[in-house]
Amino acid sequence: MKGIILAGGHGTRLYPITIPTSKQLLPIYDKPLIFYPLTTLIEAGIKEIAVIIKTKDQQCFFDLLGDGSRFGISIEYFFQDDPRGLAEAFIITEKFIGNSDVTLILGDNLFYGESFIKLLKEDFSNGARIFCSKVLDPERYGVLEIKNNKPVSLVEKPSKFISPWAVTGIYTYDSSVIKKAKILKPSKRNELEITDLNKVYMNDGDLDSKFFDQSVLWMDTGTFESMKDASEFIAAIQKRQDILVGSPELAAFKNQWLSKKDIEKNLHYSNQYAETLLRLID
Ligand code: G1P
Repeated sequence: MKGIILAGGHGTRLYPITIPTSKQLLPIYDKPLIFYPLTTLIEAGIKEIAVIIKTKDQQCFFDLLGDGSRFGISIEYFFQDDPRGLAEAFIITEKFIGNSDVTLILGDNLFYGESFIKLLKEDFSNGARIFCSKVLDPERYGVLEIKNNKPVSLVEKPSKFISPWAVTGIYTYDSSVIKKAKILKPSKRNELEITDLNKVYMNDGDLDSKFFDQSVLWMDTGTFESMKDASEFIAAIQKRQDILVGSPELAAFKNQWLSKKDIEKNLHYSNQYAETLLRLID
């Protein structure tokens, strides 16, 4: 299984903050947003990761993540300068994917919960797998309609209520995803829609859908309000439970991909994040 983090996009909903920088580099409490999806992929056991960014953000992402070795993984960078849709990710990273299965995570999606990681680690053989969360505002998302426990339709941002099950920003596909992405037609907003891609799998009977229980928290942090909520949640839970959520170093340590020594060597600063991390791996 390989991984892709999609961190392009102009983040216009966060202007003027995102005029000079990428949304995924902004803080959610004590770490940059991209640390959270990166940690999720590491927790899923994924070691080879492609990060799709805008060309102009290259240096900043490289300063933060480098080639991935400081997290015990490998990172390759790919570029998407125009918003041509989430499904374009698989065309951009065609060579990187090769014949592997691949998990795509959106760079602004934050997931939390033990049972989520269990779902993510379930065996995957072929087809596509989506992860759905019950929400009060399904009109903001791609939505899955189910009848008799079977997926019957997928609609991007439905104007009429069809179901409370939002399709979250993490998806697993077999390598036929490249071929399937290439035959998609741009939507009305001129993008290759991930929902259209998932429909191709659904129509072939190859779409597996997983549903979060109430213990899983999913946040799409694309607005000021949701960034504030996410920051407050992370701050509160970390303080109270003495944990670090979204630490790629800690996740790699738990996977035994990094030793205590490796982490100490790479941490060239001393602050609350570094001190907590060092204490937790001790
Ligand atoms: C995208 C997808 C949508 C999905 C959402 C999850 O929406 O198109 O299907 O539910 O991510 O965050 P967008 O962020 O482009 O509005």
